[in-house]
Parts: sequence; C-alpha cells; structure tokens
Amino acid sequence: MHLPSVGIDAIALALPQKFISLDELALARGVPPEKYQTGLGVEKMAIPGFEEDPVALAVNAARQLFRSSGCSPQQIGLCLVGTETPVDYAKPISIYLHRMLGLPSSCRVFETKHACYGGTAGLFTALEWIVSGSAQGRSALVVCTDIACYPLQSPGEPTQGAGAIALLLSANPRLLAIDPASSGVYSHEVYDFWRPLQHKNAIANGPLSIQSYLEALTNAYKNWKERNPQHAPLLRSCYHVPYGKMARKAHQHRLSLEKKNLSGSAHKEEIETSLVFPAQVGNMYTGSLYLALASLLHHEAPLLEGSWIGLFSYGSGCTAEFFAGKVSEQAGSTMKKLHVEYAFRNRQKIDIATYESIRLQAEHKAVPLVAESIPIEADLSQNVVFRGFDQSERRLYQNVPLHTKPANTNR
Ligand code: CAA
Repeated sequence: MHLPSVGIDAIALALPQKFISLDELALARGVPPEKYQTGLGVEKMAIPGFEEDPVALAVNAARQLFRSSGCSPQQIGLCLVGTETPVDYAKPISIYLHRMLGLPSSCRVFETKHACYGGTAGLFTALEWIVSGSAQGRSALVVCTDIACYPLQSPGEPTQGAGAIALLLSANPRLLAIDPASSGVYSHEVYDFWRPLQHKNAIANGPLSIQSYLEALTNAYKNWKERNPQHAPLLRSCYHVPYGKMARKAHQHRLSLEKKNLSGSAHKEEIETSLVFPAQVGNMYTGSLYLALASLLHHEAPLLEGSWIGLFSYGSGCTAEFFAGKVSEQAGSTMKKLHVEYAFRNRQKIDIATYESIRLQAEHKAVPLVAESIPIEADLSQNVVFRGFDQSERRLYQNVPLHTKPANTNR
C-alpha cells in the first residue's frame, strides 16, 4: 500500500522521581498482592511530588527529546499538548513549553483534549499538518502529559500513575511511519469516566469503562478493517494501557473479532513487550499508548524493522482510533540513541505512609506563594520544577540540574 512518509521520528519520556510498590499498597489495603500483580498487571506506580506538575513533566520530556534526538527547537512549527489534567482554563500547557523550550515565534501552539485520546488528537493533527504541506519542512512536537488520580482507597487507586511523553513528528520518520488517512474511528457519548470542573480526582464507573473501551475497540477496528481490507499483518499491537490487564483483554478481544485461535500463549508475544514500561509506571492517561509504544520499540525495534504494528487509542466519554504504523528501517539504531530507559534512572521508592501524606497535602495544603518571579531560560541541559504562584496567581517554574547519579536497576 502507498504510505505517505510521515510519522514518529523520535520519542522521549519524563517520569516522577518517586514510585510505590503495588505489593505494598495491596498489603496496606488488605488485598491479596496477586490481585494487583496479576489481576490488574501493575507492579509500581509513579507518584508525582508537588514540583512535578503536568507542565514540568511535559517540559522535561520535551527537553530530553531535543537532547537525545538531535532536533533543534528552531525546527518546530507546531507544538501541541494532549492532557486531561490541565493547569488553567485558558492558558494552555503548550505556551509554557514554547517559552521553556525556546520555540520559534512563528510556531502554532495549543492544547488538545478528549480524556486519554487527547495526545492522539494532537498526533493526527500534526501528521495532517505535515502531509498538507503547511509544515514546509518543519517538524511538530506533540507532548502527552498527565497525572492520573483517583480517591485514596477507591477501586481506581491501584490504576493511578503520572508522566509525560514527547513525540517528534516529521517527514521521513526514523521510528514509525503512519498514514493519517487510513485510521479507523469510533465515537459515542457515555459517562464511563469523567472529572467535573474543580474536582482533583477523576470519577470512574469501572465496569462501564471496561465495557466502553472494548466496544470502542470493536468498532474502531471494524472501521479500520473496512478502510484497509488488504492490509499486511500486524506483528505487534500497542493499546491504551490504564493497567496491563486491560490491554491484554483488549488484544484477546481483537483476536476474537478475527476469529483467531486464542488457545495458550501463542499471541502473548504480540503484546507483552509493550507492557513492560506501563507496569512500572501506572496509567499516564494521554501518554499511556505512547509509553506502550516506547516499551515495544525499546525491547524489539531491531527485530520489527520493516514490519507493521497496530495501535489503539481510547478516550473515555468516548472516542477511539485504531491505526497501523510501519516500523522504520533505522528504528533499532534510533532507539539506541534515544535512551528512553533513562527516565527510569534515579527513581526512588517511597512507602505507603509517605505516598498518602503526599496525596493529602496535595488535596488540602495551599500551593506556596513565591514572592518574586523567577526568570526562566530555555536551557535544554536542565530540568524544570514547579515552585508555586506569585501574587497574581501566575505559575512559577525554575531550572534545576539534571540528576547525574548512575543508573540503578530499581526500575
Ligand atoms: N488474584 C488474581 N486476580 C485477581 C484477584 C486475585 N487474588 N482478585 C481479583 N482479581 C482480578 C479479577 O478477577 C479481575 O480480573 P478480570 O478483569 O479479568 O475479571 C481484576 O483482578 C480486577 O478486579 P475486580 O474486577 O474486582 O475490579 P476492581 O473493583 O478492583 O476494579 C477497575 C478494577 C474497574 C479497573 C478499577 O481499578 C477502576 O475503576 N479503575 C479506573 C477506571 C479504568 O481504568 N478503566 C479502564 C477502562 S477506561 C480507560 O482505559 C480510560 C482510562 O485511562 C481511565
């Protein structure tokens, strides 16, 4: 099939520095650890500190992208941020990125939202911008950034997480070529998961959300099949991963639509490497599908060069898209240079009491007022932290040195 040569050229991630063990959370909640490990498929959950807000996470992922990909901020003509945990009703996270990354003034910036689909909305907007010719040789930056939060002790608690993923989109992509015109789409209004204005935590109707996810997959996949009846086989699949078990269920469900033999673990290899990183982080909402993609390419890119993979994005509420991507011939060597595994370095395990006190502080403690504004340079060699508000409730950020401790294996 003819494939326009556009897609994902590079990928980078930023994770909170702290995490908890789901075994320890299970113990604290009086639940058998196998329920979280096997029943949900999660091992660790990223816990953002106060200074790791969605803006700081997004900037840190994007700065890492520029450091590792060799792309310069001057090459960016479109910067989109997908998020369902925005920091302001009016001011988008993308404009904070514009300043803190030093993007050109002739760069279009905005935020995209539809629950966990928000990043995919940005991705397709950016691909179509390139295919249309508007890019004129420039690249697009799409960043997915979120903090997934449910009430303490609720069924959703073990499916929280946080982090940001930055995607560089361009012509002649080094990782994954995607045809934006051939995806399968499904939308349908439903109250499966929502967060009313002013609520810090999301509200989920768990069983309905699972049912809605699978129904959306059925219909988006059918739509994709109708549009691509002769498509080459998809060797691997990446799904939106609220927790690993949901993606495994989704894959089984998709195979059953194909009436494939589901016995044994024959199809395990089609999905398992995509779930390694998500099991260490939890739900990243908009970034979850792309964390799965990063995990797949980190583990298997050389093997998959020249092959097709399937991707499924689900946004509660709901809208969904199923699409295919062709792994580029230089994906293996590119992934080596990108070092996505760096995001797991220096993470620190905290105990459940510390996690609970971080959560309670976030819910009850006022955000500090910082008397003076802090000048912030677009210094790509540093990370960024959130410091608080000034007298006019403007958000203040500060550059801080990157961690330099050697990698530990405490992923
Ligand atoms: N050993 C092994 N497995 C066990 C077990 C044990 N001791 N005890 C229970 N389990 C299994 C259950 O059998 C079940 O597996 P199946 O789904 O295969 O049946 C699994 O653990 C979960 O247990 P429950 O069915 O009892 O469910 P729960 O009350 O713990 O809630 C949840 C699970 C609904 C996912 C809840 O965590 C939740 O509401 N999460 C937030 C919503 C969500 O993530 N929805 C996903 C789809 S929507 C979406 O994807 C968008 C998004 O990002 C939010």
